[in-house]
Amino acid sequence: MSRLGLLERLQADAPMVNPSLLACDFTRLGEEIRSLEAAGARILHLDVMDGHFVPNISFGIPIVEAVRRATDLPLDVHLMISEPARYVRQFRKAGADLLTVQIEAVPQPAALLEEIRSLGALAGLTLNPPTPLETIEPYLPYCDLVLVMSVMPGFGGQEFQPVALDKLRRLRKLTDSQMLLSVDGGVNRQTLGLCAQAGANVFVTGTALFSEKDYSRFISDMTALARQCQLLQEKTCSR
Ligand code: DX5
Ligand code: ZN
Repeated sequence: MSRLGLLERLQADAPMVNPSLLACDFTRLGEEIRSLEAAGARILHLDVMDGHFVPNISFGIPIVEAVRRATDLPLDVHLMISEPARYVRQFRKAGADLLTVQIEAVPQPAALLEEIRSLGALAGLTLNPPTPLETIEPYLPYCDLVLVMSVMPGFGGQEFQPVALDKLRRLRKLTDSQMLLSVDGGVNRQTLGLCAQAGANVFVTGTALFSEKDYSRFISDMTALARQCQLLQEKTCSR
């Protein structure tokens, strides 16, 4: 599928839960992916950590390749790494459909976001909880997705930081209603509603999802809640 075809499909599928494989059972990676597909997942989130940009190491190119072989779902690769420009081509080759880079690692990301698009992938930009929104504002035209971190990246299972909500609200005003606005970290049944009301339409969930027995029920409950919040928000805005 072309880059723009995928963008249109994701926009049409939103609001959506985006499972973060970091919290899955890696001894059964293929089965976990099949369960997520059966549960209605429309995309998968892969957290790449280098032990330098963040104080943790997760997985890299071989695992992205393995996930690519296991599924046709779009792969959203979140690069929590220093010098991402050195690796985007390899991650694209490994099967990434969407590549998100951290503004803290690339303070002037226009050329890199353009390169990601020229590789045929969707380009995403993200910022950590303490990083001001102004740092990414000039680069919004180069983004197919903006990811707001609601925890400091590096570990799953952290508590949601409400500082993300104000950024989501402001981003939703700065972009059109179709824009993919994602939130990552501590998203669960309690925090999803707040994020959806603030304008998020892609919800990365690791711990909350994989600690449930029934992935399908979790994904459909969360999606229904996000839809309700979206409708409420639209009604409030049109008054
Ligand atoms: C944080 C990662 C997240 C995280 C989400 O460093 O970018 O994707 O694993 O997991 P939970 O849902 O456990 O916060
Ligand atoms: Zn992530």
